[in-house]
Amino acid sequence: MSLLLQTPRAVCRRLLRPGAASPLQDRVVLVTGASSGIGAATARLVAAHGATTLLVARRAETIAALADELVAAGGRAAAYPCDLTDGDAVDALVARVLADHGSVDYLVNNAGRSIRRSLAASHDRFHDFERTMAINYFGPVRLTMGLLPAMREQRFGHVVNIVSWGVQLKAPRFAAYLASKSALDTWARVAARETWDDNVTFTNMRFGLVHTPMVETTVEHYRRWPSLTADQAAARVLRALEDRPVSFNVAAGRAGDVLNLVTPRLADFVMHRLDRSGS
Ligand SMILES: NC(=O)c1ccc[n+]([C@@H]2O[C@H](COP(=O)([O-])OP(=O)(O)OC[C@H]3O[C@@H](n4cnc5c(N)ncnc54)[C@H](OP(=O)(O)O)[C@@H]3O)[C@@H](O)[C@H]2O)c1
Repeated sequence: MSLLLQTPRAVCRRLLRPGAASPLQDRVVLVTGASSGIGAATARLVAAHGATTLLVARRAETIAALADELVAAGGRAAAYPCDLTDGDAVDALVARVLADHGSVDYLVNNAGRSIRRSLAASHDRFHDFERTMAINYFGPVRLTMGLLPAMREQRFGHVVNIVSWGVQLKAPRFAAYLASKSALDTWARVAARETWDDNVTFTNMRFGLVHTPMVETTVEHYRRWPSLTADQAAARVLRALEDRPVSFNVAAGRAGDVLNLVTPRLADFVMHRLDRSGS
């Protein structure tokens, strides 16, 4: 990437200390949704960069096996099974993690679920709106709120939220999913303005399509779209952890931002037509 497009922090680090160790070295990094896809690939990468890697997901055996794999490769890792939609379980997770590690330096709010369903097919499915908010918004907010006091106390912390380019494009059939991701995106932007003095920062990663189990059922529909592998997405998460930019965006997402700002009615028309044409 051109140096001009990088944050001042990244430029200084790369120009002044090109061979230096990753800022993640010997830090504590908690990754949610570490049992699969982007989260598992991110966990492997941050462990390889010297971080103590804490793995969170519901599938206890899967994250335990990944922790064993990371330790066998010479890293430090531990598995913390948790259903992030269960508020009491999140509070217990926070208590355990703080007792074991004192604080978390980097948090990757990656666990999530997507639902692609039109409003017409959703009238008897209010639970779709509730369950996307539960895992994509309330879970990460509760976890972040639990870990934030220790970050502020130590005057360092960085939170990466895996959201979606859809928060910019506002794509039809994704109302439940994108409203919950937009809520997290906005929450982090507000939080960053309150934690500025404490050196606690936030990145919203507005990914486009990534080939993971989450998109298996719709992958045929989007086969002509540009996409990343989970490893490629993880490399971008690693870069966001190290450089702490405000956001990561893809070109189509930025175009969506501009179109929605400058000519929102035309944006509605274009998205409606694209949806009708099956694109
Ligand atoms: N794939 C894409 O095209 C794409 C694009 C933009 C953004 N994203 C976002 O990227 C993130 C990762 O998704 P992915 O594509 O890597 O999908 P994935 O392979 O299906 O991974 C989803 C992860 O979330 C965890 N999870 C789901 N519900 C949970 C719960 N209640 N409690 C704890 N963990 C839970 C799952 O673990 P367990 O089942 O073990 O709990 C799994 O590890 C998501 O937030 C997604 O919205 C994906």
